[in-house]
Amino acid sequence: MGRNLSLNLADQGFAVGVYNRTPAKTEEFLAQEAGAGYIHAGRSLAEFIGLLARPRAVLLMVSAGQAVDAVIEQLTPLLEPDDLLIDGGNSHFRDTDRRMAGLEARGLAYLGMGVSGGEEGARHGPSLMPGGPKAAYERVEPLLTKAAAQVEGLPCVALLGRGSAGHYVKMVHNGIEYAFMQLIAETHDLLRRGLGLALPEQRALFQEWNQGVLESYLLEVTARVLAEQDPESDHWLVEVIQDQAGQKGTGAWTTHSALELGEPTPAIDSAVMMRNLSIRADPRRQLAERLGGAQPLAMERAAFLPLLQDALYAGLILAFSQGMALLGRASQEYGYGVDLERVCRVWRGGCIIRARLLERLRRAYEERPELESLLLDPKLGQEVAARSAGLRAVVGAAAMAGLPAPGFMASLGYLDALRSGRLPLNLVQAQRDFFGGHGFARVDRPGVFHHQWRK
Ligand code: 6PG
Repeated sequence: MGRNLSLNLADQGFAVGVYNRTPAKTEEFLAQEAGAGYIHAGRSLAEFIGLLARPRAVLLMVSAGQAVDAVIEQLTPLLEPDDLLIDGGNSHFRDTDRRMAGLEARGLAYLGMGVSGGEEGARHGPSLMPGGPKAAYERVEPLLTKAAAQVEGLPCVALLGRGSAGHYVKMVHNGIEYAFMQLIAETHDLLRRGLGLALPEQRALFQEWNQGVLESYLLEVTARVLAEQDPESDHWLVEVIQDQAGQKGTGAWTTHSALELGEPTPAIDSAVMMRNLSIRADPRRQLAERLGGAQPLAMERAAFLPLLQDALYAGLILAFSQGMALLGRASQEYGYGVDLERVCRVWRGGCIIRARLLERLRRAYEERPELESLLLDPKLGQEVAARSAGLRAVVGAAAMAGLPAPGFMASLGYLDALRSGRLPLNLVQAQRDFFGGHGFARVDRPGVFHHQWRK
């Protein structure tokens, strides 16, 4: 990522200094990219810092966690007041708050910046999600606005808020990414085990869907990976890949933060849960043998495919609505001052969750910045209501066939719960008051009440 961001910045005409802790990698980079604009390397950290004009701006692209602290410790003695450090990794927002406070106490500026789009994005136009002091951001704004992806002539970068807001936005981006990837995986499974659709047919279907409202980077990627031949055998590559999913943590962090803030995010939670469940290989194998697997769907392909497309689009809107609601809650709780319309604008290009839908979401926040839920936007709410028939049919068909669709099921449950005038949680309140004396509110008068249940 650091390599490609350096090349991107050099392409834009900026003089770039680079350093890697492994000298061989630096030499290899310089040899391979000899003609790539003004790039100078420091063979030591001190030499690297010496390359930079004051006040310096240093972008760290190292793995989240202890490595960032280690590099900051090595760099700090070499820096001078007003120098700026930017952490472009997937750092946890609480780590960013701690680092920012520590460095500002030493007269150094700090920005936490989410970078999305992988190596391809870093090279040719990522989505950039910086957070922190406005003065610090303004110093590097000319570089970031050039390096970022451009959509309708606007850069996919903006200062997203105070403190660790940038890393919080990136964390939620990844939570929505997990949810969308899980919904696509369930769609693939319903097509494969439910309808018996061969991978080339699936590829064609995702390509077709990618021409419409579902147009998105993740559908494009899915179409490309689904029908990739395995170079080692005569199988499709995806069919020889183990079904146990990894995760570096950002999705789980999103779920943790949502629980901490009391914000429901079932689409994200179910995606994290499925990654955790997928690695329980041994109990899964035993239970598959003992309890048997799924059946084909009891629905014709021609009838099921449009319902599945609707379910995926409804699920995508619901996943975004949950992620953005969490972002709004966190911004209130942590004083970030995040503008959700600006977040949608920055996500329209370069990032993993870029999708045609994002312009609709951006417009919803442009019209009503204080929108508590995207489902309260009249057009989006109607869209989800219209497509919820597909979501309901897909959940029902999957359930009857024994095909796992927890992402679709969680989102349908979320929608049905949200639109229920009255939920059965009054019974929970009665139970809590019965055994715990926790009290309850009444529908017909103000106050908190406790009932003498044991007469
Ligand atoms: C991005 C991605 C990236 C993410 C990796 C792996 O925005 O470019 O979200 O930051 O870290 O894709 O993430 P997981 O290991 O958590 O799936």
